[in-house]
Amino acid sequence: MVTSSNPPLEVVVLAAGQGTRMNSRLPKVLHPLAGRPLLAHVLMTVTELEPAGTHVVIGHGADLVREAVGAAGPKWVLQEEQLGTGHAVQQALPDIDDAAVVLVLCGDVPMVTAKTLSRCVAGACGGAMTIITAELADPAALGRIVRGADGSVRGIVEYKDASAAERAISEINSGIIAAPANLLRELLDEVRPDNAQGEYYLTDTVALAVSRGVEVLGLKAERPDEVLGVNDRNQLAALERQYQRACADRLMAAGASLADPSRLDVRGDVMVGADCFIDVNVVIEGTVIMGRDVSIGPGSVIRDSRLGDGVRVEAHTVVDGAMVEAGCSLGPFARIRPGTELGEGVKIGNFVETKKAVLGPGTKASHLTYLGDATVGANCNVGAGTVTCNYDGIDKHRTTIGDDVFVGTNSTLVAPLSLGDESFVAAGSTITGDVDRGELALGRGRQRNVQGWVRPDRRRRADDD
Ligand code: UD1
Ligand code: CA
Repeated sequence: MVTSSNPPLEVVVLAAGQGTRMNSRLPKVLHPLAGRPLLAHVLMTVTELEPAGTHVVIGHGADLVREAVGAAGPKWVLQEEQLGTGHAVQQALPDIDDAAVVLVLCGDVPMVTAKTLSRCVAGACGGAMTIITAELADPAALGRIVRGADGSVRGIVEYKDASAAERAISEINSGIIAAPANLLRELLDEVRPDNAQGEYYLTDTVALAVSRGVEVLGLKAERPDEVLGVNDRNQLAALERQYQRACADRLMAAGASLADPSRLDVRGDVMVGADCFIDVNVVIEGTVIMGRDVSIGPGSVIRDSRLGDGVRVEAHTVVDGAMVEAGCSLGPFARIRPGTELGEGVKIGNFVETKKAVLGPGTKASHLTYLGDATVGANCNVGAGTVTCNYDGIDKHRTTIGDDVFVGTNSTLVAPLSLGDESFVAAGSTITGDVDRGELALGRGRQRNVQGWVRPDRRRRADDD
C-alpha cells in the first residue's frame, strides 16, 4: 500500500447528504448492503490503506450515523448545512496538515476496492490531482469527464450543467479524488456556487487545477461497476445482487458447490472448506466458518456459527451462535440458538430447539424437543416431546444430564435438575428431583383399567328424552 516515504494520507468520506431519492427516514449511508451499512463498507476498505486519519463528514441524521458506526470509528466532522461536495470537504480540511495527501470518497459508493484507491493515492503522492473515472454504458445523471484533444482531463461537468454534447460523454466521475492537501485547500477557496444546483462543487477543483497548470490524472477503475453509487433503492438492490454474485464466485473458487449462485445471500464473512454444498435460498449472516463436506439444506439460515467437517444441515433449519462439531446432523426444521455446543455426531431432528445447550458426542434429540440451559453427556437419547423447564417465571435454571442417559418420550424435566449417568426416565414423566446413576425414574400417574365399564351410547340417550 502506501509506503512510509510518502506524505501522510488523510481520507475524507462524504456522508452528510440526506439521500432524498431513498425516500427513507434512515440516512442513506446507513442502508445495508449485504447486511452492513454502506458507510461501513467504505470504512472497511479505507482501513486497508492504513491512513494517518479518516474524517467522515456528516450532517443529515448525524447522531444515527455516529451511533451506527460506533465508538472506535473515525473522526466526525459536522457539516451543518449541505452546501455541496466542495463545501463538505472544506469542513474536514482545518484538521488536516498541508503536507498530507487527501483522498476524498463518497459514503454511498461502497464497492470501490483498496487497489483502485491506492492507484488514486499514488497519483496524488506524485503531486497530481487524481480522479477515478469509469466508462459506463448508461452514465445516467453522473458527472461527465471532459478531456482535451490530447486525451488529458480538462474538467468535470455535472449532468445538470452539461450541454447535450457533454451529456453524450460516457466517461463518468466516480466522485473519488485525491490531491495534495495544500492544493485542495487553495482550489476549494476559489470554488463558487454559480451552477444549476447553487452548490459548491468539489468537481470544479479539477478545471481550476488544470488552469493553474497542475497535472490532473483521470484513472479508469479496473471494473466500472466498483464505482457505482447508491442514490435510490433500485440502485441499492442492483449493487446487492452484484455483491452477492462476487461472494458466490469466491465461495465456488474456494471449493463449495452452490445449487444456484443467485440464490445464496451472504451478509457477513463466511469461510468454507472443500466440497461444501449449499442449496438454494440459504442466508448466511455474521461470521460463519464451515469445514469440509458441509451440506446446507434449502431455506436455512446460518449465523455466527462454526460447522465442523461433514455437518449436514437439513432444509429450513436456523443455526445461530453455535459450535457444531464434525458429523452432526441438524434438522429439517430445527432451531439451534446461541450458546449451543454440539459434540461430534450429534443428531438434532425436526422441531427441536436448543439454547445454551451443550450436548456430548453421539447424543440424539430426534424430534419435537426443547433443550434450554442444559448440559447433556455423550450418547444420550432424548425422546420426542421432551422439554427442559428452565424458567420459573423469574430465574433460569440448568438441567444436567450425564452420559448414556435415556429420556423417554414426552418427559418434562423441571430444572434445576440432574440426571446421573446411565439413568433412565420413563416416558411421560414429570421429573422434579435428581436421579442418581443407573436409576429408573417414573414420574407419572399409574394406569388404572376399569372393568365392566359401560360405554355411553348416543342413541339410547336420544330415546330417553
Ligand atoms: C457526485 C459528483 C458527480 C459524481 C457522483 C458520483 C459533485 C458535485 N458531483 O454527484 O460528479 O458523478 O457524485 O457518485 O461532486 N455530500 C455531503 N455534503 C454535501 C453534499 C453531498 O456530504 O453538501 C455527500 C453525499 O452525502 C454523498 C456524496 O457527498 O455521499 C455525493 O453527493 P451527491 O449529492 O450524491 O452527489 P451526486 O449528485 O451523486
Ligand atoms: Ca451520489
